[in-house]
Amino acid sequence: MSGKTASRKTSRPALVPRHVAVVMDGNGRWATRRLLPRTAGHKFGADALKRLVRGCVQQGVQYLTVFAFSSENWKRPVEEVSALMELFVQALQRETPDLTAQGVSLRFLGDREPLNERMRELMVQAESTVVEPARLRLNVALNYGGRWDIVQAARAAQTAGVELTEESLGRYMCLADIPEPDLLIRTGGEHRVSNFLLWQLAYTEFYFSETLWPDFDEQTLAHAIADFARRERRFGRVSDKAAPADPAGLRVA
Ligand code: IPE
Ligand code: IPE
Ligand code: MG
Repeated sequence: MSGKTASRKTSRPALVPRHVAVVMDGNGRWATRRLLPRTAGHKFGADALKRLVRGCVQQGVQYLTVFAFSSENWKRPVEEVSALMELFVQALQRETPDLTAQGVSLRFLGDREPLNERMRELMVQAESTVVEPARLRLNVALNYGGRWDIVQAARAAQTAGVELTEESLGRYMCLADIPEPDLLIRTGGEHRVSNFLLWQLAYTEFYFSETLWPDFDEQTLAHAIADFARRERRFGRVSDKAAPADPAGLRVA
């Protein structure tokens, strides 16, 4: 989006990121360390997500995008995948009213086709609940993959017959209507993207935490935001603090 890019400045970011993305990782290890089944980690992970949402509302974050299930997570044992799907259904049924009461609107990104009908119905229902004005817009990535996102965007652009440019393709990517993530938090100690928002993370600040997801709390979020506030985002330019270039020095003799 050229307009957005042109208006970016190389300066210290606003103290609070507008859009936070989170890879909620470490549920399985958290459970295994307690000699519990991995699925217990996912259950406690759902409580951690509630703390994250509360923390974001308190801190004034406007958009939150969480990675709940990747397009590769189907490769896990069938019992774990079924337990996760059941947990999503329960969470949607139980938590949507409370989220609405907090001023949180919900939206999903990812390929819904392989999900069961009950789940798809609940997703549509949750998305159609009007929360106006929303204090926080929560996007849940479910059966989402960054590569899938790029391919679905390319297909949509092709169907529309538009000429492919960064800007035109970008319009068909998931979350194209909101600002790109300012901060990506990944818990669980791994330093990788795991096919999350590949396109949208181009200039996102990354924050990695050793905390396993079920232990995540408002304090971990506050640390990540404080760390973000110390970063200088340059978007390819030079630092504001750098000496201005001498135009004479740039001339080709
Ligand atoms: C993240 O925790 C949750 C999902 C991927 C659904 P994991 O289940 O990946 O936990 P670890 O990484 O195995 O500890
Ligand atoms: C990423 O975590 C997906 C989610 C948190 C939903 P994974 O646990 O699936 O990532 P890898 O396999 O360690 O890269
Ligand atoms: Mg993991």
